[in-house]
Amino acid sequence: MTPRAMKPSDGVAWVTGGSSGIGAALAKRLAGQGWTVVISARSADKLETIAAGHSGKGHIIAHAVDLTDAKGVEDAVKAIEAAHGPIGLAVLNAGIYLSINAENPSFEDYKKTFDVNLSGTAACLCALTPRMSARRTGQIAIVSSATSFGGMPTSSAYGASKAALVNMAACLRIELHRYGVLCQVITPGFVETPAQDDNAFPKPFMVSAETAAKRIASGLRSKRFEITFPRRFTWALKAIYALPYGWSLGLVRKQTGWDKPAN
Ligand SMILES: NC(=O)c1ccc[n+]([C@@H]2O[C@H](COP(=O)([O-])OP(=O)(O)OC[C@H]3O[C@@H](n4cnc5c(N)ncnc54)[C@H](OP(=O)(O)O)[C@@H]3O)[C@@H](O)[C@H]2O)c1
Repeated sequence: MTPRAMKPSDGVAWVTGGSSGIGAALAKRLAGQGWTVVISARSADKLETIAAGHSGKGHIIAHAVDLTDAKGVEDAVKAIEAAHGPIGLAVLNAGIYLSINAENPSFEDYKKTFDVNLSGTAACLCALTPRMSARRTGQIAIVSSATSFGGMPTSSAYGASKAALVNMAACLRIELHRYGVLCQVITPGFVETPAQDDNAFPKPFMVSAETAAKRIASGLRSKRFEITFPRRFTWALKAIYALPYGWSLGLVRKQTGWDKPAN
């Protein structure tokens, strides 16, 4: 069975991190395409508001779960499939950004970042890949970031977690192919969401959550491995990181204003 992009008739869509930002916008977009979309996050109230506020094509259903609880994630997937049918498409989007300052780093912030972004995604994969492989069909898209391409100041936890997710998706892309399951990775540039509120970086070519959702939904209908946008930003960044480290890291240091001496 050759992996293929799933359609609403293949099952329900599950979007983690669906209570705000990119996840909420994507859930609305997929529902508009006729999908029944189950959204998960910790904030049950926010999920219910989004689900209740949706009108038009498709349905949005709230199912709260904390992804740092692997048993809770397994139970959630079991409950979603029992109530609504097989998960055809999973977009593993939940993630957090915590700024790490090298002058005063917090081990707790490193750990929190890895717990949500990496272990949380792994918990979802452990619940999903056995089910999808057994069914010989399915589609999983993991939300990484353009930060995964190379080093960025203050992102030593976030960037490391997002680079690991690209590798995780690439390994699974190879493995899941023979089970008919499509695996993709999503590497957005800057998207205007609550996650960006505390981020003091320059944010060139930032797009709205709705534009991000449109790009992701279009990429999900294709079979390509990487869904990246806005391409004028992410391709330029890839080109910079293709340079020798001495040049690329120096260029990023200058562009982000980290070339000034510390006070
Ligand atoms: N915004 C950007 O510029 C940008 C760029 C590249 C990649 N991304 C990635 O895109 C994804 C979505 O980001 P966003 O900007 O839309 O951020 P956001 O608005 O802050 O949304 C993050 C989502 O993750 C959920 N979440 C956080 N911790 C969780 C946990 N322990 N268990 C379950 N859900 C949890 C949050 O809900 P609760 O707090 O209710 O749990 C929320 O729904 C993230 O993976 C992010 O790294 C964002």
